[in-house]
Amino acid sequence: MTMEAAKQHMGAMFEYIAADGLVALAAMGLPPGAKVLDVGTGVGNFAIFLALQGFDVLTGEPDTDTSRYARHDWAANAHAVGVAKQIRFEAFNASQMPFDPNTFVAVFFYGVLHHIDEAERAAALREALRVTGPNGAVVIFEPTQDTLRQIWSNDPGHPLAASPALYTAGLDVSEQKLTGQRMDIFIYRMA
Ligand SMILES: C[S@@+](CC[C@H](N)C(=O)[O-])C[C@H]1O[C@@H](n2cnc3c(N)ncnc32)[C@H](O)[C@@H]1O
Repeated sequence: MTMEAAKQHMGAMFEYIAADGLVALAAMGLPPGAKVLDVGTGVGNFAIFLALQGFDVLTGEPDTDTSRYARHDWAANAHAVGVAKQIRFEAFNASQMPFDPNTFVAVFFYGVLHHIDEAERAAALREALRVTGPNGAVVIFEPTQDTLRQIWSNDPGHPLAASPALYTAGLDVSEQKLTGQRMDIFIYRMA
């Protein structure tokens, strides 16, 4: 299925997610078919976007998450979009990832860091850097103020955006900041 058809199935939000995803990918130059990790599956928007870009995607969220953001039927969406074979799901907590070092060329957190318990965010970023290894990239998408205002109109309890730099203090990393349509994008690499 094409990106256009995926937008039809997934809804208007997918268009914005894909646009911001392409901003990040343009800055990264990942090899075709690369193995990537999508942290925080949700309805599967970002995992499906990555699969449509030709990546081999592992996605997951904690199986203990009972919030409204988790345990959606992402697999039905992936199937409808025709990318179910390119996406595998494994339940995990970002602060204790069950993966070896250097498993992925990139780890993506799309709209996820602010949903991770504050006390676990630094560990989640350390884990993401560990499983990507020295040449990998960790990419964090966090909502802009305009996006947050739109989210709050439907979900007043939604958390504030997280500032990734608060959780990378002390790590030997470089940060590249990009601006998407709906999200601020932070790319971390080992320095
Ligand atoms: C708003 S949803 C993300 C949307 C999703 N990325 C998409 O594209 O549809 C937030 C996600 O963060 C996940 N999450 C919260 N705490 C987490 C943690 N400690 N480790 C991994 N995922 C977590 C939730 O389970 C949920 O899947």
